[in-house]
Amino acid sequence: MKDVRDKLGRTLRDLRISVMDQCNFRCSYCMPAEVFGPDYAFLKKQELLSTEEILRMVEAATELGVNKIRITGGEPLLRKEVVSIVQKISDLGVVDDIALTTNGWLLPTFAQRLKDAGLDRINLSLDSLNDKTFRKMNGRNKSVEGVLKGLEAAVKAELPIKVNMVVEKGINENDIVPMARYFRERDITLRFIEYMDAGNFHHWQQEEVVPAKEVIEILNAEFPLEPIDPNYRGEVAKRYRYLDGVGEIGVISSISQPFCSDCHRARLSADGKIYKCLFSSIGIDFKKVLRAGISKEVLVTRLAKLWLGRDDRYSEIRSQIDPNEPHDPKVEMSYIGG
Ligand code: GTP
Ligand code: 5AD
Ligand code: SF4
Ligand code: SF4
Repeated sequence: MKDVRDKLGRTLRDLRISVMDQCNFRCSYCMPAEVFGPDYAFLKKQELLSTEEILRMVEAATELGVNKIRITGGEPLLRKEVVSIVQKISDLGVVDDIALTTNGWLLPTFAQRLKDAGLDRINLSLDSLNDKTFRKMNGRNKSVEGVLKGLEAAVKAELPIKVNMVVEKGINENDIVPMARYFRERDITLRFIEYMDAGNFHHWQQEEVVPAKEVIEILNAEFPLEPIDPNYRGEVAKRYRYLDGVGEIGVISSISQPFCSDCHRARLSADGKIYKCLFSSIGIDFKKVLRAGISKEVLVTRLAKLWLGRDDRYSEIRSQIDPNEPHDPKVEMSYIGG
């Protein structure tokens, strides 16, 4: 069943697993502090999939062709068992790539332990090197220095790193060039992400997006670039290399140049729901059947059925959706891990 294809002919290769819906940051584009306050109903411990349940989902997904696992959150390093989750996925020996997306704050504690557990690489979010801008964007007054300490810990642990920067017009677009310069000097790939209309509580407007094309123009004026081939089929970021030979960057252009036709990702939420798209309203619950003792064969069949019926391509049809028409709330980014 390795080549199960959805209704648009897309295979399943990549499973993003959120292990925790909470975060120690409150980025305005993801978990605005005024919404995700002390009274917000986060998942309770018993609602989270256990490590064993996560492993069963991984095993089933690999039967359908998944060979890449990304651990996300919220902030995955807030999950107590995160190291053992990585260790056990690695011990299964069934995937080629185990990556983790983090805000980096807790990496000084976790980087080496994650490396030892079998983590292959890290994507770290950092939106600005300007401390004032960054403290404001992360909503929790966290310093740039704190995140850079996390980055340093990952470098020391010899974990390959990419940095993600969400670009918002009028907020951090002036940081594009300083960020590029800083990470280029350290030979770390920086990816510029178009601000997306994910979730329900941001005040997203098209005008706040800095299109990837504009980012490339800004960078090109400073450091000439040329496009290069993707690292893998369906890579979300388009890659460019600096013409003088040192380093590369990426752009993730979900708004201006959607990439749904090559989307091989399924998402597993922290409470065991599978989402077929980052912008879905509904996830299909697997926790209940896992806890009812479903066999591996039936689990694989259920996952296959779900994938076969998939026709999601939200980013491609975004402009045809009338925002004023009533619609079900979308899944929250912090719940599904981006
Ligand atoms: P690599 O495996 O290193 O290529 O990572 P990645 O870019 O797939 O994952 P990461 O967690 O670093 O995500 C970077 C950005 O891409 C985040 O803003 C994600 O929300 C976004 N992203 C990842 N996958 C998708 C997708 O399928 N659709 C859309 N619209 N955005 C995505
Ligand atoms: N638009 C674009 N990227 C986002 N992320 C979180 N919310 C948004 C959004 N609304 C990014 C984070 C992180 C990744 C997992 O998703 O910055 O790098
Ligand atoms: Fe936390 Fe990442 Fe969301 Fe920021 S973008 S609030 S760091 S989960
Ligand atoms: Fe995949 Fe949905 Fe993102 Fe399109 S919008 S690339 S279908 S997750």
